[in-house]
Amino acid sequence: MKVLVVGGAGYIGSHCVRQLIAAGHEPVVLDNLVYGHKGALTPEVPFYEGDLGDKEFVGKVLKDEGIELVMHFAAYCFVGESVTEPFKYYENNVVATLRLLEVMHEVGVKKFVFSSTCATYGVPERLPMTEDLAQAPINPYGQTKLDVENILKALSHAYGLSFAAFRYFNAAGASVDGSIGEDHQPETHLIPLVIDAAVGKRENIKIFGTDYDTPDGTCLRDYVHVDDLSRAHIAVFDKLSEPGQAFFYNLGTGTPNSVREVISAVERVTGKKVPVIEDVRRPGDPPALFADSTKAQTELGWKVEFDSIDKIVETAWNWHSKNPNGYND
Ligand code: UFG
Repeated sequence: MKVLVVGGAGYIGSHCVRQLIAAGHEPVVLDNLVYGHKGALTPEVPFYEGDLGDKEFVGKVLKDEGIELVMHFAAYCFVGESVTEPFKYYENNVVATLRLLEVMHEVGVKKFVFSSTCATYGVPERLPMTEDLAQAPINPYGQTKLDVENILKALSHAYGLSFAAFRYFNAAGASVDGSIGEDHQPETHLIPLVIDAAVGKRENIKIFGTDYDTPDGTCLRDYVHVDDLSRAHIAVFDKLSEPGQAFFYNLGTGTPNSVREVISAVERVTGKKVPVIEDVRRPGDPPALFADSTKAQTELGWKVEFDSIDKIVETAWNWHSKNPNGYND
């Protein structure tokens, strides 16, 4: 299948490109390189630099490349920033996405795979989290993702768009060969920050809250390897062959790890002591988020390969060791 990967120079998109090639598909990358990295591109994959909201540009790429399916990873993803700069998030994550869907409709591309998030659930009413839980986001980031899910439902109903929306839990890790990995600017995610603290690039890691109602008082999250996430995107292709299909899947390992457990895993894997400071809670952090991914397992045959936090951290550490300053671009 000829697949346009929008945001293919970003963290999850770049890993998905590699998995598409491994599965025999033909990816084409579109990215404006605002947050993406040239170093994350795969040299033999066609690359178009530009904005997903630029209909003329995107329409030309769709037609010239004979695209059959679009995967969309090009969202802004900093929860805190979404609270202070909501225009930026609605503009890119909703308005530009709508332009992308509009031009797909005009050109006649009818298959779409969307990166959604467990943040669409807000504070979950039940754990582990199944797809039928109420969606009540507690920040604009999660709301923008839910808005797109709702737009997709309407387009599927009205025009026969077939789509899958994957609600990721905490994407983590890096490619096994250490050639691509996680490099956000600024970095806010736990695992890369703990690795930085282990190697002395940061003085310490702050634990945001030690008084949660969890076994060790720190937040529980479901860290899922970026290659496992990517494989689900490809496993869903067969289900999108008929028009008007709509699928929603939670993607997580189902095994939560606390902030302290992640720090211990980094210490085991790197063999280095991590200096820790116990800090106050970060606003907007739910105490626990972990997935029930039975639906993806049953319907897509999805199975995680990286089934422990140590395995995930090993790949992140391998990438970091080979690229101590990230992509350098
Ligand atoms: N944390 C710390 N110290 C840090 C950074 C993080 O204690 O320096 C804690 C957070 O409080 C949280 C856990 O580590 O409990 C994980 O934090 P991340 O920032 O790595 O990830 P989040 O769970 O906040 O966010 C992730 C994705 C978002 C997505 C969200 C869904 O990055 O895109 O999951 O809730 F929206």
